[in-house]
Amino acid sequence: MARREAATPQGNAKLTPIAIESAHGSLVVDVDGNQYIDLAGGIGVLAVGHTPDRVVAALQGQAARLIHMCAIVSTYEPFVAVAEQLNRLAPGDFRKKTVLMNTGAEAVETAVHISRSFSKRQGIVVFEGAYHGRTNLTMAMTSKFNLFKKGFGPFAPEVYRFPFPNVYRRPPGMSEDGYVDWHISLLDHSFMAQVDPSHVAAIFVEPVQGEGGFVPAPTAWLQRLRELASQHGILLVSDEIQAGMGRTGRLWAIDHSTVVPDMITTAKSLAAGMPLSAVVGRAEVMDAPHPGGLGGTYSGNPLACVAALEAIDQIAAPEFLQRSVEIGEHLRGRLLEMQQRHPGLVGDVRGLGSMLVMELVKDPVTKVPWMEATAALTAATVKRGVITIRAGLFSNCIRFLPPLTITNAELDEALDVVVAALDDVAKEISPH
Ligand SMILES: Cc1ncc(COP(=O)(O)O)c(C=O)c1O
Repeated sequence: MARREAATPQGNAKLTPIAIESAHGSLVVDVDGNQYIDLAGGIGVLAVGHTPDRVVAALQGQAARLIHMCAIVSTYEPFVAVAEQLNRLAPGDFRKKTVLMNTGAEAVETAVHISRSFSKRQGIVVFEGAYHGRTNLTMAMTSKFNLFKKGFGPFAPEVYRFPFPNVYRRPPGMSEDGYVDWHISLLDHSFMAQVDPSHVAAIFVEPVQGEGGFVPAPTAWLQRLRELASQHGILLVSDEIQAGMGRTGRLWAIDHSTVVPDMITTAKSLAAGMPLSAVVGRAEVMDAPHPGGLGGTYSGNPLACVAALEAIDQIAAPEFLQRSVEIGEHLRGRLLEMQQRHPGLVGDVRGLGSMLVMELVKDPVTKVPWMEATAALTAATVKRGVITIRAGLFSNCIRFLPPLTITNAELDEALDVVVAALDDVAKEISPH
C-alpha cells in the first residue's frame, strides 16, 4: 500500500486498504492470506463472479490465438459475435447495430456523437444525480461536482441538466404519487426553462441511478420521458453501464418499464472484468456517423470479446436472472431488518432487483446525510472481512453489488458482518 501511495497519485481513489492477491467467485484473498467476501464486485462488474472458469478458459484459448489486431484493420469472429448477440438481446422490435468501445465513459461519449450526427442537433439532456463518466464530455454530463469535477473545468458545452425524482427525498407531506406527478410536470417545465426540445439530440437516463445512490426512475416518469422524446424527435438513451446485465433481475434495467430506448450503453458486467463497453441502438441511428467516425485502437479487443460472449451467455439465461431476483429479495429483506434494528441511522433501503443501497442519515426525519457513518461502516466491514463500498450524491449510501454467483451461505455470512459493523458504528459515533 505504501508503494502504491508513493508511485501513484492520490487522485486515483482507493476505497479500502486491501492489497489483493487472487479471487474466485465471491471470495477475495489478500497478500497476507486473509479471505474476504466481496459485496462490491469490482463496482458492479462481476455479475458472473471473480475468475469464472468459462471466462478464464475462453481467455486462455483466445490469448494463444490472437490478442490484438484492431477492428479498424481487420475483422475477427468474437467482435462480430458480440455485436450480433447484443443486437439480438437489446430491447426493441427493430433492426439494431452495436459499436464496441473500452470503457463506460467512451460508450456514453460515442452515443453522444451518434445522436448528434443522426439528429443534426447539439443539445444533450441529463439529470441531477447522474453519473456518466470522467472524460471531459461525460464529466459535463456527470452531476456530483465536488468528488468528480472540482478543478477540472471548463466542461463540454450543450449539456442541459433536468431534475431527477428521488422519492426518498421528496418534500415533507407530499405523497409518492404526487411527487412523481410533479416531476412529470417538471419535464415540460425544463423543456421551457432549460432548453427547447427542438435543440436536443438525446436524453441520457439511468433507469436506476448508480453513483447517484441506486435511485430507480419511476415508471410513469420514464414513460413521459419516452413520449416527450418521440414527440420532439429526440433520441432516448438508457445508460445501463451499472444497472444493466442482469443486475436488476432483468437483462436490462429499462425492461422493468414498457419504455423502449433508441440506444443502450452497456459495460461493467458485460465482459466479466475485461475492458469492454458497447452502444446498441436502432440501425439507422447507429449508421449516421460517417465511415471512420467511430472506434479506437483497442475497441472490441478479441480477449474482451470472448469474455463477453461467455458472460452474456451466462447472464441472459433465465435461471441466472431468477437468481439475481432471489438475491435481491433476500438482500432487501436483510437490509430492512437492519433498518428496523437501527431506525435512527438507516434512513432508506432502495434499489431494483439485486442492485440495492442502504442510506445512512443523522436523523430519519430531517434525513441529513451522514457520510462519516458510511465511511466508518465500510471500514468496519472490511476489518471484519467483507468488502463494501459507498455511493450516493451525498456519499452516504452503502451499495451492494455482489457477484450474482454468490451462495446463500456467503451472502448471509457477509450480511451478518454488516449487521455487526452497523452495531459498532451506532455505538461508536454520534451525529452530534
Ligand atoms: C451509469 C454509468 N455510466 C457511465 C459510467 C462510466 O463507466 P467507466 O468508469 O467504465 O468509464 C459508469 C461507471 O460507474 C456508470 O455507472
